Amino acid sequence: MAHEHGAGLSDEDRKAMLEQNINITRNLANIKYKVAVMSGKGGVGKSTVSVNLAQAFNAMGLKTAIFDVDIHGPNVPKMLGIEGEKMGVKGNKLLPVETDDGILVASMAFLIENMGSPIIWRGPQKTGAIKQLISDVAWSNIDVMIFDNPPGTGDEPLTVLQTIPDLDAAVMVTTPSSVSEEDVIKCVTMTKMLNINNIGLVENMSYFECPNCNEKFNIFGDSKGLDFANAMDVKYLGDLPFRTEVSESADKYDTPIVKSDPESGAAKAFVKIAEKIQEEYFNKD
Ligand SMILES: Nc1ncnc2c1ncn2[C@@H]1O[C@H](COP(=O)(O)OP(=O)(O)O)[C@@H](O)[C@H]1O
Ligand SMILES: [Mg+2]
Ligand SMILES: [Zn+2]
Repeated sequence: MAHEHGAGLSDEDRKAMLEQNINITRNLANIKYKVAVMSGKGGVGKSTVSVNLAQAFNAMGLKTAIFDVDIHGPNVPKMLGIEGEKMGVKGNKLLPVETDDGILVASMAFLIENMGSPIIWRGPQKTGAIKQLISDVAWSNIDVMIFDNPPGTGDEPLTVLQTIPDLDAAVMVTTPSSVSEEDVIKCVTMTKMLNINNIGLVENMSYFECPNCNEKFNIFGDSKGLDFANAMDVKYLGDLPFRTEVSESADKYDTPIVKSDPESGAAKAFVKIAEKIQEEYFNKD
């Protein structure tokens, strides 16, 4: 009889929780393929990879959405040039913000204003906010949804992985300096523990690409991404160059390079990874 789940919850709370879970299930059913972008450490390029993959999938004719889960550094809206916009409300649903190309975006950034500083949120609050956003945003007929996670194995990625049991792909982003690092291994281990085995590795900023002639310079030596992926028994999805125009740090880079300079080696490398993900993980019907 020592059954204590939900102890302390009122009937009302319990009903609200049940309703939310039903909404989440219904809402996720409107999304065909779900991809989580993750990493062991911050600053390795998850958001950059997320927006460029989204741009590439969208150009491939797939209706694409991004769910920006990073409460502490929600910079997807900035990278897509929709910073400062607000999510609309329709009935009891929130409407995602749409880019000029039709990529749909839900971001904690759009909500944070009226939620107080997330720096002081405790774990359950983060989990609650993410579940609420998954449950309450009106998604319909999405082909690909990319979840841009904060780094590591904290509450946010854990919530995403647990709330989306049928994730189609988990994309781990590393850099030459993080390759073979414990943080990445931890992240892969957590993902596998949750029975998600469609894991792919991307090595970002793997080499330098000349902005004038697209020539490659292996300033970090040969890529070790493939060996690392093999050692962890995950798929290797490819590497991406370091190239200044990829960076959003300068104000004018509010357009993913896949769109702003499709002929660059960097853009082609992103597209190649998007195609690889499609080939490996998008196999329904
Ligand atoms: N391939 C790249 N070439 C040049 N700059 C990059 C590249 N990938 C990421 N950056 C830059 O590195 C910084 C961190 O990237 P970001 O995508 O925000 O990382 P994360 O989401 O993992 O914290 C940003 O300023 C971004 O523009
Ligand atoms: Mg990020
Ligand atoms: Zn050159």
